[in-house]
Parts: sequence; structure tokens; C-alpha cells
Amino acid sequence: MSRDTNDAVERALQDRRPLHQMFVAVPKRYDLVNRAITLGLDLRWRREASRACLKDSPRRVLDLCCGTGDLAAELSRYAPRETAVIGLDFSRPMLRLAQRKVEALARPVTFVQGDASAMPFPDGCFDGIGISFAFRNLTFRNPLSSRYLAEIRRVLAPGGRLVIVESSRPRSRFVQAAWKTYLNLFVAGVGSMLSGNRSAYHYLAQSAARFYTPEEIHDLLRGSGFQKVTTRRRLFGAVAIHIAS
Ligand SMILES: C[S@@+](CC[C@H](N)C(=O)[O-])C[C@H]1O[C@@H](n2cnc3c(N)ncnc32)[C@H](O)[C@@H]1O
Repeated sequence: MSRDTNDAVERALQDRRPLHQMFVAVPKRYDLVNRAITLGLDLRWRREASRACLKDSPRRVLDLCCGTGDLAAELSRYAPRETAVIGLDFSRPMLRLAQRKVEALARPVTFVQGDASAMPFPDGCFDGIGISFAFRNLTFRNPLSSRYLAEIRRVLAPGGRLVIVESSRPRSRFVQAAWKTYLNLFVAGVGSMLSGNRSAYHYLAQSAARFYTPEEIHDLLRGSGFQKVTTRRRLFGAVAIHIAS
């Protein structure tokens, strides 16, 4: 990685503004890059997360930081008829792509532009909240982390479920080394090449490599008032689905 890219990544890890710029800039080939860097497995993980979100037939379910709406689309496909599906993101270009994606689906999805730290929803509005590949952005080295978690708690009804699908840290040292190599070479390289956005995918590789372990996520969630937290590890622990209520 060049020194300039390294500096940009460090800045994005410290400061939230470049992150916002990055997501406003990133949508070019965003879905294609996701499929390429996960070899299509991201779709399977989101599907599993959406099933977990829908387990207790929620009346209202939120795809938080929905991006181009992949999780919202899964929720919309599998939710009971009476369930309302809502997606929230602060990036208008992402939301535009999301809207286009769900147009062909039978069930409507409502997309709302807003910030996860001050969501335009009443208390206890959702029985289920899903967040795919954005929890890291909200919590890792983020000074607003506790604010985001408190806001998630506020809009989640008592007894509701939070389902997080996110990169994780494999337990085995051998898998950890392979995972870091894959992130630094494949994710950063292919992501930068396909998207044309070098710092976004270097940020992704760097933050994913250093992100919290499942045990640290459990502590974070328990510290914000969630009582029951379980984790399903996927891809030798490189990805995890955390379910909290
Ligand atoms: C890595 S993308 C993940 C998108 C999508 N959930 C997925 O599975 O592909 C992270 C998303 O979080 C959004 N985001 C980051 N911080 C946010 C915030 N504070 N409020 C709302 N959206 C945010 C970005 O705009 C971006 O669309």
C-alpha cells in the first residue's frame, strides 16, 4: 500500500467525515465488488441474517445502513405478508440503487435517508433490526459507537432482535494469517480495481483485519443493554452472524 493510501485509511479510521464521503462515492459497481470479493457468499450470509431477523414474525423490520438494499430485498422476499420492511442509510446514491433493486419485488420496501445516530423513528418502532457489513463502520474505533448502540436500542421494541452480519476474527492463527493475506491482497486489490476507489477498499481491508472478536462484540452489546447474545461463525470464523435481544 502506498504511503498516501495508508494515510487516507488511517484518517478514515480516526475521522468519520471521510467515511461519509467514501460511501457517497462508492456505489459504482458496489454490488459487483461485493460479489467478487466474497465469491458470492455475501448473498448467502445476508439470507441467513434475514431469516434470523424474521424468526419471530416482526411487524416492522429495519435494514440499518442498508446501502444498495441487499438485506432489505431478502427481508422483503421472505417476510410474512403483514411485515413492513424499511431501509435506512445516509447515502443518497446508495438509496437510489436500493430503490431500483426492490422495484421488481412484490412487497414494497420503504427507504429513508437518515443518520444511524439520530434515526427518524419513534421509540420501540421495530421488532427486528438487521445490519449487514456496516456494524464495523458504526462501532470500530468510532467515538460515536455508544450513541449508535443507544439509538439502536431506542428504536428496537423490548424483546426485539438485532441481527448483525459482519466480518470477524478467526480463532486459529493459521486462518487469521490467511484471512489477513486475503484482505490485503484480494479484497484491497480487486475492490480498488473494480470500483476505482482505492482508499475505500484499503479501509475495508484494514478495518476488517483489526475488527473485534465475537467475545468483544458480546461485551459491547451486553454493555449497551442487550441480554442474550449468540454468534454463528461462518467461513472458518472470518465472518460472523451475531444475534442479540
Ligand atoms: C459497507 S456498506 C454496507 C451496505 C449494506 N448494508 C450491505 O450489506 O451491502 C455500509 C453502509 O453504511 C452506511 N452508513 C455508514 N454510516 C452510516 C450512518 N452513520 N448512518 C447511516 N448510514 C450509514 C453507508 O452509507 C453504507 O451504505
